[in-house]
Amino acid sequence: MKTFIENLPKAELHLHIEGSFEPALMFEIAKRNNIKIPYNSVEEIEEAYKFDCLQDFLDIYYQGAGVLTTEQDFYDLTYSYLQKCANQNVRHTEIMFDPQTHTERGISFETVINGISKACDDAKEKLNVTSLLIMSYLRHLSEEEAFKTLEQSLPFKHKITAVGLDSSEKGNPPSKFKNVYKASIKEGYIPVAHAGEEGSADYVWEAIDLLGIKRIDHGNNSLQDDKLIAEIIKRDMALTVCPLSNTALQVVDDLKNHPLKKMIDLGLKVTINSDDPAYFGGQVNKNYSDIQKALNLTKKDLYLLAKNSFQYSFLDENSKKNYI
Ligand code: HPA
Ligand code: ZN
Repeated sequence: MKTFIENLPKAELHLHIEGSFEPALMFEIAKRNNIKIPYNSVEEIEEAYKFDCLQDFLDIYYQGAGVLTTEQDFYDLTYSYLQKCANQNVRHTEIMFDPQTHTERGISFETVINGISKACDDAKEKLNVTSLLIMSYLRHLSEEEAFKTLEQSLPFKHKITAVGLDSSEKGNPPSKFKNVYKASIKEGYIPVAHAGEEGSADYVWEAIDLLGIKRIDHGNNSLQDDKLIAEIIKRDMALTVCPLSNTALQVVDDLKNHPLKKMIDLGLKVTINSDDPAYFGGQVNKNYSDIQKALNLTKKDLYLLAKNSFQYSFLDENSKKNYI
C-alpha cells in the first residue's frame, strides 16, 4: 500500500503555506533575520506542538510565521514545500496563504506574493509541480480588514486564483464576510472557505448560501445535517478533508473514528490533504497511508481520492485531462 500511495499522482487542495514551515527552516530563517524564537531546539518545538483545539494551534502557528520577513524567506518556505510535493508525486497544489498574518506586522503584500509566486514558477519548471494560489482572509479580523487585503491584492490579481477563509472558526461565521466575498467574486476570484471544522453545519450552510463557495475546506460537521449533505452532493462540491489535522486538533478523537469512509459512502466528493503538515505530523502521503490503515481503505478508495483531487481542483479542464 505504501508504494501504491507513493506512486499515485495526487493533487493537494488544502495546504497553508505558513503551516508547512518546518522547525529546521524556521531556525535558519529566524537566525538570518536576527529574530528570537522561544525554542532552543527542534525537540523543544515538537514538544510545543501538542494542541487541544484549533485556537491552541493558531497561537503557535502565527508566532512561527512571525519570523518570515523578506521575499527570500517566502521563496524558501514555498520552494521547500514544493520539493516535498515533487518527492511525494503531488503533481499539482493549491496553496493558501494568509497575507494579513504578514501585513499586520508591516511586511508588504508585494513581498509575500512575490516570494511565494517566484517559488511556484521555479517549481513548475524545475520540479514539474504546478500550483495556484488561494488568498485567505483571517476570520478573527474584521470584514473591513479583509476588504483592505482584497484591495492590496488587485495589482497581483493575475497571480491569485481563489479566496479562502481561515483562522478561528467559532464565533466568526461566514456571514461576517458576505460583502467581501461578493466583491472578491466580482474581481474574478473563486470562493472557498473553511467551514464545519469546529463550527456547526450552520456555518457550512452560510458558506454555501452567503459566500457562494465552490469547495469546502474540512466540512466534517456537514454530517450533522442530512439536508446539507444532500445539498453538497447536488451542487457537486468537494470537501478538502485533512485527517492528521483533525486528530491533532481533536476534531476527531482517533483516526479509526474518522468520518472519511462514511463521507465517501454517502456520495460526498472527498479529497485528502495535509493542511499544516509541519505542525500536524505528516505530509500528504502520510495522511493517505495513516487513514488507509485506520479505516482499511482499498486501493480503489485511494484511487478515487486521488482522482477527486484533480477533478475538484481549479485546474482548467484541459490540464485535468493529463491526470484523469
Ligand atoms: N483551520 C483554520 N485556520 C487555519 C487552519 C485550520 O486548519 N490552518 C491554518 N489556518
Ligand atoms: Zn486549513
